[in-house]
Amino acid sequence: MRDVEGKVAFITGGASGIGLGMAIAFAGAGMKVVVSDFRRDHLEESAAYFKRKNLEKNVHHLRLDVTDRAAFAAAADESERVFGKVHVLCNNAGMGILGPVKQAKFDDWDWAMEVMMGGVVNGIQTFLPRILHHGEGGHIVTTSSMGGVLPLAGSPIYSAIKAGVVGMCEAMRGELAGDGIGVSAFCPGPVSTNIHEVGLMRPEKYRKDSGYAEKEKELADRPEFINEMSIEECGERVLRGIRRNDLYIFTHREFKEGVAERMQAMLASFPDEEINRARAKEFSFLISNPVFRQVIEAAGKGKKPA
Ligand SMILES: NC(=O)c1ccc[n+]([C@@H]2O[C@H](COP(=O)([O-])OP(=O)(O)OC[C@H]3O[C@@H](n4cnc5c(N)ncnc54)[C@H](O)[C@@H]3O)[C@@H](O)[C@H]2O)c1
Repeated sequence: MRDVEGKVAFITGGASGIGLGMAIAFAGAGMKVVVSDFRRDHLEESAAYFKRKNLEKNVHHLRLDVTDRAAFAAAADESERVFGKVHVLCNNAGMGILGPVKQAKFDDWDWAMEVMMGGVVNGIQTFLPRILHHGEGGHIVTTSSMGGVLPLAGSPIYSAIKAGVVGMCEAMRGELAGDGIGVSAFCPGPVSTNIHEVGLMRPEKYRKDSGYAEKEKELADRPEFINEMSIEECGERVLRGIRRNDLYIFTHREFKEGVAERMQAMLASFPDEEINRARAKEFSFLISNPVFRQVIEAAGKGKKPA
């Protein structure tokens, strides 16, 4: 979506960190932005920020827990009442559920899946029909992580879900291209946010059977990293990815070799034998996806996809 000015974006988990970085970049590019979040303190801080910048007319704040489907529909209605048709959906709400499988308990898996997979599903099921209905096209960005493409050793819950949303984006992209709807899997590396406050955000219902209480205390007390990317830079990269319709929005060059190694490991693990041509023909719809060829060809021409 090259021309973003005047278009409307809806961001989940938009009042802090990476989501706030997106809101700042979008508002700076002349978009109207709905910042949704379930933390009231973050919503207040974000609203105060945009007021200071004299952008409050272009940024609407509302409270939304992405796990609540009825509230999601109401938030979509409110967004349309305030700004009109929504074109860009950013499924971004999430938290850093990090820890080893040996300590994990059901509450850790369930909370992560409910917010970071279920919340994304709710975003798509709420907004995609509306974007299709207005017919003006749009874009869906889902925040994964480098951990979704280069799984973190020792954090399988987070990596499973973040890998899941990458696969979802890859599978949706071809289907929605004909409707003028771009799809991006956004995979940031370390960004300076409030992600270490995961323990603070854990709802009561997911505290009884968690194995990560200690881990979450450690994360809250960890010293600040000094080389994380700023939320503003991160937001600009998302905006560029939307304008270019990038399938993958990567932010951190440092991870490229690690990803190549993972791909090589996969390729090296295929059986070294002749292709069964009849089977390949019968299942041709399964054995390749044109969206990858498009990215490779565009990169080969020194151009990102339009
Ligand atoms: N910070 C990083 O280094 C990093 C790297 C890769 C991916 N990510 C991903 O980026 C996304 C944003 O995280 P962040 O780092 O900006 O953290 P953050 O804590 O600063 O922001 C996340 C926001 O999501 C909101 N949120 C959490 N659960 C919610 C729910 N159920 N409903 C609505 N809002 C909810 C929080 O209130 C918070 O405002 C997450 O999906 C995270 O996994 C972060």
